[in-house]
Amino acid sequence: MFRRLTAGAALLAAALGLAGPASAAEAPLRDLADARGIYLGTAVTGGRLTGGYADTAAAQFGSVTPGNEMKWGSVEPVRGQFSWTGADRVVDFAEAHGQEVRGHTLVWHSQLPSWVENGTWTPDALRAVMTDHVTTEVGRYKGRVDHWDVVNEPLNEDGTLRRSVFGATLGESYIADAFRAARAADPAARLYVNDYSTDGLGAKSDGMYALVERLLAQGVPIDGVGFQAHLILGQVPSTLEANLRRFAELGVDVAITELDVRMTLPATDAKLAQQKADYAAVTRACLAVTRCAGLTVWGFTDSDSWIPDFFPGQGAATPYDESLNPKPAYAGIAEALGPVTPPGPAGCAAAYAVQSQWGGGFTGQVTVRNTGTAPLTGWKVTWEYPAGQRVTQAWNAGVTQTGTTVTATHLAYNGTVPAGGSTVFGFNASWTGANPPPPTLTCS
Ligand code: G3I
Repeated sequence: MFRRLTAGAALLAAALGLAGPASAAEAPLRDLADARGIYLGTAVTGGRLTGGYADTAAAQFGSVTPGNEMKWGSVEPVRGQFSWTGADRVVDFAEAHGQEVRGHTLVWHSQLPSWVENGTWTPDALRAVMTDHVTTEVGRYKGRVDHWDVVNEPLNEDGTLRRSVFGATLGESYIADAFRAARAADPAARLYVNDYSTDGLGAKSDGMYALVERLLAQGVPIDGVGFQAHLILGQVPSTLEANLRRFAELGVDVAITELDVRMTLPATDAKLAQQKADYAAVTRACLAVTRCAGLTVWGFTDSDSWIPDFFPGQGAATPYDESLNPKPAYAGIAEALGPVTPPGPAGCAAAYAVQSQWGGGFTGQVTVRNTGTAPLTGWKVTWEYPAGQRVTQAWNAGVTQTGTTVTATHLAYNGTVPAGGSTVFGFNASWTGANPPPPTLTCS
């Protein structure tokens, strides 16, 4: 569905952005995404939709994609015998929580039942089987699935047609037939072709671009192109936004459909920080392209990701850790989606502590914190000593004392403190009798 600039989204944007009650850190991702006119979705495992997993999936995501439950091998393992239990569970969950559904996937070379993959087919027989499958599955969920990945992964790495059982037996025509059958079964569903390694400009995305052009020229009812975005840490394609835009300019929607960012384990703070930047960059690319309908992560928790099984030694690819704690990647998405922080002012607060004390002397430390929303560019801290203490030496600040008044000023290298950040300076001082702390510190 084309979601930008709906009245509801505009109202929510006003509530989140202008009235300002919700920061990116507080509001669920699904609300932040709604306010920007996109959906934020996740793949889920239907069998896990209870407890904390279900609570997080419902609270944070406005769209769900069954990770496996709608694939041909799951719903029609035996010819003509359909099994909907797993798929129903996900669709029912979505409806109970006001979520959209991405149906994944109708025609794919993988997770195919062997009766299809290993059958001996005439073109007509395979076409009939395929269109029956599409018609039955889309028909069952008519009005309940918002987007369908009608054809998944049709291309080779060089952009040519993959020689799957469908490609080899029917040539490219199977793609048009699958879309026509899907449109006939549910005219309101948005119909996508979906693939991996098409995220940036390159031979494979050129092949996809040419395919979509041909389909549109033939009047095939295709509404969108899905970009899986199974990415490697630090390797978000620099051409992602430009690539999304060129497809959108063909007159179709685009979506990020299976985002994850894998890393070599163990995860470190530095890798998680890079992953945050990667998630934010992909989110921003979608937001920058008006026809980007939404973004789906391929599993929202590291305990429900395909990566460790398929890439031994790699993992930690999703926005939540295995215990359902949000990772920096979560904040990366939220900050990219979040309302723009109003500019300034900077704030300044100082905290005084005695670190060690001995007869006649002590070492003190003051933490200067920027409590505002703009960078602090220079600071001065003053205090009054109540019991005759005298500063004798200082570091990380220029410190002077006149009578009982101490003044500490930033040095050239630590005057700028980012919003929410802090810096520390220290000093040695003398005391006699008692060493009470100054009652107040003034920071300006
Ligand atoms: O259900 C069986 C279970 O009964 C059995 O005990 C177990 C033993 O290995 O396997 C289970 O099936 C696994 C299935 O996931 C469900 O967990 C399959 O082995 C496993 O191969 C399958 O992997 C899925 C993969 O597609 C298959 O290609 C992943 O979960 C799924 O996340 C992944 O998703 C694909 C998208 O559909 C298309 N794009 C790429 C993406 C990642 O590969």
